[in-house]
Amino acid sequence: MTVAEAWNGPLGQHWAAHPDRYNAMLDGFDGPLFDAAAIGARDRVVDIGCGSGLTTRMAARQAPDGRVIGVDISEPLLARARSLTDAEQFPQVTYRLGDAQSCAFEPGGHDLAISRGGVMFFADPVAAFTNIAGALRPGGRLAFLCPQPAQPDGEERKALGLLASLLGRDHTTENAVATAMASLSEPARVHQVLGAAGFVDIEVTGVSADTCWGKDAADAVEFFVSRTPGLSVSDSTRAAMTGALLPHESPSGVMLRAGVWVVTAHTPQRTADGRCSYQRRPHTP
Ligand SMILES: C[S@@+](CC[C@H](N)C(=O)[O-])C[C@H]1O[C@@H](n2cnc3c(N)ncnc32)[C@H](O)[C@@H]1O
Repeated sequence: MTVAEAWNGPLGQHWAAHPDRYNAMLDGFDGPLFDAAAIGARDRVVDIGCGSGLTTRMAARQAPDGRVIGVDISEPLLARARSLTDAEQFPQVTYRLGDAQSCAFEPGGHDLAISRGGVMFFADPVAAFTNIAGALRPGGRLAFLCPQPAQPDGEERKALGLLASLLGRDHTTENAVATAMASLSEPARVHQVLGAAGFVDIEVTGVSADTCWGKDAADAVEFFVSRTPGLSVSDSTRAAMTGALLPHESPSGVMLRAGVWVVTAHTPQRTADGRCSYQRRPHTP
């Protein structure tokens, strides 16, 4: 199954069915993303891989006199985004189905592109970020989150790996989505891709936060199991999985520490005579 098929199939359907779960999981990273994005009241924002649109609506709250377009390749997720977005409350929000790598953005028509984990899945990342750069005005901004490399002893990785092994599955099994998910996990690669796409002032900053997987261990196991359609799990396995998550229970839920990169960059400014004030420069990790 290709990445686009997965986001239009079981994976996208699961995200569309559980927006609150995924939003709770990513909640600790929203502050760093929006601090980095520094959205102004009149900004024209594009949210790349907007999913069910929480960050699109958050951006719209910060840009009441601007406009925000959420772009996503997944029909089920965009349908969910539309159903969750009150047109009267968010008249400045529109959603668009498309591959951000190739869809025709209004050239230079945006001040800012943001993404909460929607930019790792491109078939050709340099082409995709070149397309996104073309959507931004000179001096436009880019701010996105992407996962850090999975550390074998990282809390989230260890706990999810244990759940997978109790199910008799190898958590490290490669598939197209898992491979794509890690495609920007090395900062040197981020610099290389964004530099080749014409961005400047590229910064990659690590942020850690607790990701919430459920209100308690049993609830988190239920959610974990539901991610594989049709999976049947015996009571004893379910009990073992619940036991594995008990140490992570807290009053706020089952919390697993994880890390992302906050990436920011700009498109080059233009001088009064229309020339770029930055020369495209070689990648410096
Ligand atoms: C990890 S989810 C994040 C969704 C959303 N940003 C959020 O935080 O809830 C990745 C999103 O990127 C979208 N996506 C994947 N490839 C894409 C592409 N080439 N163009 C646009 N969206 C894409 C997926 O459909 C999915 O909604």
